[in-house]
Amino acid sequence: MLAIRLAVDPDLSGVVALPVGAADDDGRAALLAPLPGLPDDVLAEAAALLGQVEHSGAPGVVHQLPRPLRTPYRLLLVGIGDGGESGWRAAGAAIARSAASETYVTTLVPVDASVAVLRGLAEGVWLGSYRFRPADAPAGDGDPLAEIVVAVADADRFRPTLDAARVVAEATCLARDLTNTPSSVKNPAWFADQVTAAAAGTGLGITVREPDQLAAEGFGGILAVGGGSAQGARLVEIEWRPADATRHVVLVGKGITFDTGGVSIKPREGMKLMRKDMGGAAAVVATAIAAARLELPVRVTALAPLAENMVSGSAFRPGDVISHYGGTTSETTNSDAEGRLVLADAIAYAVDRLAPDLIIDLATLTGANAVALGKRTAALYSDSDELAESVVDAAAEAGEFAWRMPLVSDYVEYLGSEIADYFSAPERGAGSVTAALYLREFTGDLRDRWVHIDMSAPSWVDSDDRELSKGATGWGVRTLLRWLSRP
Ligand code: BES
Ligand code: MN
Ligand code: ZN
Repeated sequence: MLAIRLAVDPDLSGVVALPVGAADDDGRAALLAPLPGLPDDVLAEAAALLGQVEHSGAPGVVHQLPRPLRTPYRLLLVGIGDGGESGWRAAGAAIARSAASETYVTTLVPVDASVAVLRGLAEGVWLGSYRFRPADAPAGDGDPLAEIVVAVADADRFRPTLDAARVVAEATCLARDLTNTPSSVKNPAWFADQVTAAAAGTGLGITVREPDQLAAEGFGGILAVGGGSAQGARLVEIEWRPADATRHVVLVGKGITFDTGGVSIKPREGMKLMRKDMGGAAAVVATAIAAARLELPVRVTALAPLAENMVSGSAFRPGDVISHYGGTTSETTNSDAEGRLVLADAIAYAVDRLAPDLIIDLATLTGANAVALGKRTAALYSDSDELAESVVDAAAEAGEFAWRMPLVSDYVEYLGSEIADYFSAPERGAGSVTAALYLREFTGDLRDRWVHIDMSAPSWVDSDDRELSKGATGWGVRTLLRWLSRP
């Protein structure tokens, strides 16, 4: 990640970014003021350009003003919208992208900027400049941009903000890296190794269960889904357990390292991106690692049930009956509804063995998420109004989006099976909702202290958009850390 340096009296001879607020009713956008250190004639020139190009001031919109043979030699006039954290986040991403071929860029912020402004700007810079680089990519093929200098009146005031923002951004980029990695590299054992390496030196406890251990303890859902693959399934459990913890939150993430659909095989169009089907697992492990680095006073356990859903002679069949951790059984019906089978094991295990205060699970669970809510919004389910509201709210603040969906009772009957406790993939009802209703059956006495988030839609973007870079988004890391950071 590039460096962000706070400076009271920065060098203004190179490229300088200036913030522009949203246009007023007459369509006139204006530079934010007062901006420290910039000569009046440069300000006047920038203001004149704003009118000429009809700058909208919308978040992330950039107009460049080249000033050959003068200093600064280029100005970036960057829209920040209403000046809130999300506008600054978009601006940070836009600055990093517009100045990618420079070696450094200086950004001016108003003298009275808040910590939210700095946090937005920093997260935007780090997340917007992210690019996935395969492990064997030659060193030095990245962008030349190495440093963003931010001119502030009081550097000490913003240093803790910047340090925390960096941890959040690094965790998001870890989740993105894991999710972007092709499945020719990424199998359950590889994922477990990556998490072990990333957690080293953070004070986290880590346990990785291999197939023998999973069988001995009854994790039939994870083993069934992983049964068709030559790569054995895993259950990764990592724990941040601070002495001053006031509550224990278990995070569960779906970790299908590739989803072919199994015997109920997906068509090519639906299968080609299924390396992303472990985005939930990536988000929860990255969150636990960041919780440790931030020393949050919350006990956090992340569970990542990992399996590759393949087609082979040892694959599970539609119509098989599977026994989950704890003994509840499912009639499988459709081997492409595999995520809920591994989650059911992990949730039942958390309830039985970890007895936490709360469980939140994240999963790229259904295509129906996008049908209902579009490309950017996760579907959130909970029986607790308060809990649902607090997570939806944390997501919005963090710049991710979740919408609460109902756990409608009239679909519950579709979960009935004649040969097992539950039918795992009802063909009737709204797909994202019935999946949530199925998972709820495994929450035991945490039924109203559980949140399920179907984040298949926002886990990926097809092109750069504000702080999101093409590919995996790391959806959930920012939401969960924002939520866990609250008192
Ligand atoms: N991993 C998919 C869901 C998915 C689809 C994620 C598209 C991201 C983009 C999941 O395992 C799946 O196949 N779900 C089925 C459920 C159905 C068989 C009940 C689906 O959504 O079609
Ligand atoms: Mn599937
Ligand atoms: Zn899947």
